[in-house]
Amino acid sequence: MVNPRPAIIVHGGAGRGSGEWREARLAGCLAAARTGWKAIEDGRTALDAVEAAIRALEDDPHFNAGTGSSLNQAGEVEMDAALMSGTLEAGAVAAVSGIRNPIHLARRVLEDGRHVLLAGPGACDFARRAGIPSVPAEALITRTQHERWRQSHGTVGCVAVDRDGRIAAGTSTGGTPRKLPGRVGDTPLIGCGTYAGAAGAASCTGLGEAIIKMVLAKTSVDLLGSGRSPKEAAQKAVGLLSEHTGGQAGVIMVDRLGAVGYAHNAEEMPVCHITAGNQPITAF
Ligand code: GLY
Repeated sequence: MVNPRPAIIVHGGAGRGSGEWREARLAGCLAAARTGWKAIEDGRTALDAVEAAIRALEDDPHFNAGTGSSLNQAGEVEMDAALMSGTLEAGAVAAVSGIRNPIHLARRVLEDGRHVLLAGPGACDFARRAGIPSVPAEALITRTQHERWRQSHGTVGCVAVDRDGRIAAGTSTGGTPRKLPGRVGDTPLIGCGTYAGAAGAASCTGLGEAIIKMVLAKTSVDLLGSGRSPKEAAQKAVGLLSEHTGGQAGVIMVDRLGAVGYAHNAEEMPVCHITAGNQPITAF
């Protein structure tokens, strides 16, 4: 029996080249991976690490999640997020507004345990009852957002294994630019944009409508079970998505032993991974 080694990998969204934002996004992924890694080094759980990393990305306006989220056709922010552990605890929120950190709200849904997915005003009511303060809708809208959503989607995600071999996945997004109000993408749908199980975890990015049809996160984790590495599983899953939908997407993965991998068919997808005993590695 090989002992698991802790590992974390984050993504900052698959999409078109992000021009002058390119380096800022890579730096944001590095900072978020370090934040999550510190949680693991402090002996906290993979869920804690994933939540901490995604909170950092939600607070960074260079990404399409939390502050800086895309606007829908009504000029409003509606965000989706999900968090899941390898023991199949899951919490997710869809089409929520006025919440600074949707991934934290997803964590509270997971901990509450009655439901897996809460949407819209019901999710915001749950946040209020859980003591999560709301912020004015404008607080999440950045001046450069229109420029940014011409360039890239910028969903964020993280998967990790902690020192005790616990596995977790999380994803957060403002969704696609100019989406119809009420549109929900792959991110909060367990198995589509986010999945964790005994074999490993996956977080997806890209066109939600294609990712949902391929149940891409669960498909990716299932592919680990055939003896593939996370890199091979991610490549195979993205290849299947390309073949069957023609859509654009990316996936980051970790297996139960702490090996990481990723693949995408977009122009770029900033990622950063940290594994035990190694320096952080960043890439597009
Ligand atoms: N992948 C994010 C979305 O389509 O909403």
